[in-house]
Amino acid sequence: MALLEIKNLHAEIDGKKILNGLDLTIERGKVHAIMGPNGSGKSTLAYVLAGKPDYTVTEGEILFDGESILDLAPDERAAKGMFLAFQYPLEIPGVATMNFLRTALNSQRKKRGEGELSTPEFLKRVRETAAKLNINPDMLKRAVNVGFSGGEKKRNEVLQMALLEPRIAVLDETDSGLDIDALKIVADGVNRLRSPDRGFVVITHYQRLLDYIVPDVVHVLSKGRIVKTGGKELAHELEANGYAEFQAEAAE
Ligand SMILES: Nc1ncnc2c1ncn2[C@@H]1O[C@H](COP(=O)(O)OP(=O)(O)OP(=O)(O)O)[C@@H](O)[C@H]1O
Ligand SMILES: [Mg+2]
Repeated sequence: MALLEIKNLHAEIDGKKILNGLDLTIERGKVHAIMGPNGSGKSTLAYVLAGKPDYTVTEGEILFDGESILDLAPDERAAKGMFLAFQYPLEIPGVATMNFLRTALNSQRKKRGEGELSTPEFLKRVRETAAKLNINPDMLKRAVNVGFSGGEKKRNEVLQMALLEPRIAVLDETDSGLDIDALKIVADGVNRLRSPDRGFVVITHYQRLLDYIVPDVVHVLSKGRIVKTGGKELAHELEANGYAEFQAEAAE
């Protein structure tokens, strides 16, 4: 059974249809990249997977471990092991990053019937992971993402991911705004988490990221559906030729 199976997914927001019969299967242990033109529905797919309430699924199915998650609230999906890093990470004024991380981790553990981590154990994990991601520990005292630079926000998302140890992680343009060194650090962070029972969906515009996070499968999303699937060479073709071919096809 696939880790995540999306079948004929149709979704809309404010009466506007964005996803149009999207099919996508993610296997355990695999990294899937999704590329596609601006406005094709990549972030919408991430939001719909997360269960953001503004979106309505009008048709189709999302199966996680073979079970539909469409009726689950966002926090229930997270407790099952879904993690989404958004293109525009949310700022949470007044909530220190460290407290946010602890609350997120412990509430997920509680939902799964696991005990809370002790404070020393939690601090040890955060500090180790932050160090690997080159995140200054002082940043963890600041409110979540408030005043963080673009690259700091993205690294903070990867820190969250590493702590939560999800079973499927969807990263929406986690490479945007990163300098070259940060790109490598973030890619390392992702690569360290690759494991036979975890799946990744990496949404990106740039082939360059895929030199560091080498995908098993590359998909092209156009006008709300997957219009082409291939290996990592597909990303190189797109870099060379752009999307004109797919936009014409999807319009037919
Ligand atoms: N509230 C809304 N009302 C109407 N249209 C919307 C709304 N929210 C999003 N859309 C539209 O949905 C389409 C898909 O947006 P989405 O953010 O999923 O694209 P994307 O593939 O992530 O693009 P990018 O590469 O620029 O990040 C866009 O045309 C966008 O304008
Ligand atoms: Mg987007």
